[in-house]
Amino acid sequence: MSESSPLSDPSIVPNPYPVYAALAEHEPVHWCEGLNAWAVTRYDDCAGALKDPRFKAERMEGVLDAKFDGRSLPTDNIYHQFTKNVMMYTDAPRHTALRRSTHAAFTREAHAHYSQVIKRVAYDLVASVPDDTKKIDAVSALAAKLPVNAAVHAFGVPQVDLDFVIPRVDTLMTYWSGPQDQPLELDLLLEHLTDLHTYALELIQGKRGTVLPDTVIARLAAAQAENVDSTPEQTIHQLVLLLIALFAPTTPGSTSSGMLAFATNPDQIERYLTDPACADNAVNELVRFNASNQFTWRRAGTTLDLNGVKIEEGQNVALFLGAANRDPRVFERPDEFDLGRPNSGKHLTFGVGPHSCLGRQIAALELKWFFAALFERFPKISLAGEPTWNPNLEFRSLKSLPLSLG
Ligand code: HEM
Repeated sequence: MSESSPLSDPSIVPNPYPVYAALAEHEPVHWCEGLNAWAVTRYDDCAGALKDPRFKAERMEGVLDAKFDGRSLPTDNIYHQFTKNVMMYTDAPRHTALRRSTHAAFTREAHAHYSQVIKRVAYDLVASVPDDTKKIDAVSALAAKLPVNAAVHAFGVPQVDLDFVIPRVDTLMTYWSGPQDQPLELDLLLEHLTDLHTYALELIQGKRGTVLPDTVIARLAAAQAENVDSTPEQTIHQLVLLLIALFAPTTPGSTSSGMLAFATNPDQIERYLTDPACADNAVNELVRFNASNQFTWRRAGTTLDLNGVKIEEGQNVALFLGAANRDPRVFERPDEFDLGRPNSGKHLTFGVGPHSCLGRQIAALELKWFFAALFERFPKISLAGEPTWNPNLEFRSLKSLPLSLG
């Protein structure tokens, strides 16, 4: 990354907020050479762009060119097939149909069921900490396990397949969120993307491990026959996208940064335990306070003006959700972790508009039940050492979090 933008400095990852605040104040639409994008840091600009169809979600061809020195791939390559047929990288009307095609797995009734399953997952996880434990690394012992266990029991990824799926998702995440200078070989990326497609197809066909009933995958498979919104190939692409989202660092990132926020603000644990309204607001406030997906991307579909800055057609825009969540124009005393905050729910951590996170309710359920289980057993967590952060600003997550369990 270039030296010229403070956003390119890896030392800001543990606390990027002063840099965001300065940019939002003086240069709210700022060119960041390292990202090859306009970085947008004010709430209204980010929320507006996410809802504005001139900002296109379709952008992955340019990313391929930039990361692999203009190397192009034939149109029928798995890379193009995937990125042009998943909801995350498409725009209306294709996006609308693809997203609708997954509806059967994300109904109100389905979420009510997942809530019960995830509650059990969360309580079992917290119960797995041995009785005489004084101190843990809360990332490896808890935060990293929560989404994996939920993936098995609520999503239906067979336990026996985890060792196959997770390393492949890790490779893809390195590409998806990695720097412009790719540490990956393109051939490895394509191989792992192909593997996940073969896997998803075999899973739906019943040739892999057993998918538990009433899970996301079981519901998608059952609805496939009547699905008029996508082709069978497109269903497989959506399933691969879900697998990537499931094992991405976002849910562990929110779980661990939430524990850090509580451990360093014990008065908020007290409020959580004594005031039901504060407990209800906890998930919104902890994802506002630290967004695990600090920024998301769009491409200008036309030349346009954003907050007085001209953005040329085709240029990339990085919308800093983590900065928007700390915008003092929207959130009073934004740097305080405050469960009594009246508008925590306005956070942009899951995006907003047509692409807002499809898994947000499930992620929120994981966080809700996890903190309920944690504080029921360990109401006095505190920091037992210096936390360390992974170096990735885009998917900002803790690497380790030493906690004393009290
Ligand atoms: C705390 C955890 C999570 C965070 C912070 C998060 C964040 C986000 C954000 C910011 C977006 C919007 C991207 C954009 O507009 O460009 C998004 C989209 C999406 N997320 Fe999540 N996510 C989380 C967990 C999950 C989970 C567990 C799933 C699995 C189902 C999931 C599936 C998706 C999908 C499929 C989309 C694309 C939606 C679309 O384009 O229509 N996410 N997520």
